Amino acid sequence: MGTVTVKLVVVMMITVGLMVEGSRAISLCDMNDEGLEACKPSVTQPDPVDPTPQCCEALKGANLTCLCSYKNSMLLPSLGIDPTLAMGLPAKCSLDMPSDC
Ligand SMILES: *[C@@H]1O[C@H](CO)[C@@H](O)[C@H](O)[C@H]1NC(C)=O
Repeated sequence: MGTVTVKLVVVMMITVGLMVEGSRAISLCDMNDEGLEACKPSVTQPDPVDPTPQCCEALKGANLTCLCSYKNSMLLPSLGIDPTLAMGLPAKCSLDMPSDC
């Protein structure tokens, strides 16, 4: 292997390591990293997309009451999530938000 290839492999290993480390930190209302990642394009500005089946599946297993409690919290924005989009997401998956949300 040439020097450039070795460097590339090292950089890739570090990147993967950081991604694993970073995603371990996010777990929200019974949604795992995978679910959060699947939903992220749907809850981030400026170009939110319709939720994917994977995202809806993850949302089905999420605690929506808990999600509700984050409506006015700074936690969602700090994760890059738009709270308004997040609150509207269950409806797009034909799920009901708790009535007292
Ligand atoms: C959902 O979250 C709420 C608020 O955090 C909590 O009180 C409730 O027990 C949770 N429900 C389930 C099914 O985990």
